[in-house]
Amino acid sequence: MSEYIKVAQTHQLPSGKGMLVKAKGHEIALFNVEGEFYAISNRCPHSTGPLAEGRLFGRIVTCPWHGAQFDVTTGQYCGGQAVKAVATYPVHVEGHSIFIEIN
Ligand code: FES
Repeated sequence: MSEYIKVAQTHQLPSGKGMLVKAKGHEIALFNVEGEFYAISNRCPHSTGPLAEGRLFGRIVTCPWHGAQFDVTTGQYCGGQAVKAVATYPVHVEGHSIFIEIN
């Protein structure tokens, strides 16, 4: 059964930035793309690099370790190292609170 876990407040994450959050044992990279919030696994599929620490340009984050790129809105692999898509998590914003759905 899935549940929504509160992970942050909207003011903590400015547009164009990412942050690491944790929910039920999951390490999640949360991003703000022009006021919309998206969540992907913090672990890069190439070699577990910390995607929350990657640079975000538009909706593309670049892994800080070897440069793989992912679309944070879909998890799709976009370039760099030969890797697969990264897991995504549904995000829900209620007032100023950000929730992530965890199964
Ligand atoms: S760990 Fe992310 S590209 Fe290598």
